[in-house]
Amino acid sequence: MKGVVLAGGTGSRLFPLTKITNKHLLPIYDRPMIYYPIQTLVGAGITEILLVTGGNNAGDFLRLLGNGRDFGLRHLNYTYQEGEGGIAAALALAEDFADGEPICVILGDNILQKGIRPAVEKYGTKARGGMILLKEVPDPERFGVPVLEGERIVKIEEKPKAPRSRYAVIGVYMYDARVFEIISMLKPSGRGELEITDVNNQYLAWGELDHDFVDGWWTDAGAIESLYRATCLIAQERAEGR
Ligand code: G1P
Repeated sequence: MKGVVLAGGTGSRLFPLTKITNKHLLPIYDRPMIYYPIQTLVGAGITEILLVTGGNNAGDFLRLLGNGRDFGLRHLNYTYQEGEGGIAAALALAEDFADGEPICVILGDNILQKGIRPAVEKYGTKARGGMILLKEVPDPERFGVPVLEGERIVKIEEKPKAPRSRYAVIGVYMYDARVFEIISMLKPSGRGELEITDVNNQYLAWGELDHDFVDGWWTDAGAIESLYRATCLIAQERAEGR
């Protein structure tokens, strides 16, 4: 399976920290944010990786990451997103890189304590349809939220005012090549973006969306409180020697 890290966007929830740099270059304790999602993919055995970025600081990623030697990689792929358009629009740029193979997508501001290898291996046994990961959180209204009937997901709602479960759909997704057909048919949401939640709902409508649960802590780092929280969680990991 190939990996895609989405690291574009304006980082508006982190202004003014993101006025002159990309969100994913900000520090989380002792490393730039972008190190964590790359490590999550590499730790799951995914070594063919594409980084999608944009904005004024795209060149900084190249200087920081080069060919991925810090991660034991020999090569890293890059692509540039012109303008804004949402997560699914950024993912559309990965079509040539994916070249018909299944992909594991991770949002550049998603930080996980433990790896995603079990989920990647589970998906890899059939490598068809989609797979999402869920984590119970105190504030699901900030995320994509699954509506559950027993163990079955019937629908995913993006940032619902009244969440119908306590779970967040985290920013790690596995898809087959049909994801690019789905994206090409999407219409912009109320916030003017092509939503990854709409992609997941299409797989659900086909009865082809699996899910798994995250082991260990998970956080995003896209707003001041969550960036601070991510820093504290990583500091604790380091203090415990991990
Ligand atoms: C995005 C997705 C959301 C998901 C979240 C995970 O939200 O739209 O469904 O739960 O990432 O970090 P964003 O942070 O871009 O608003």
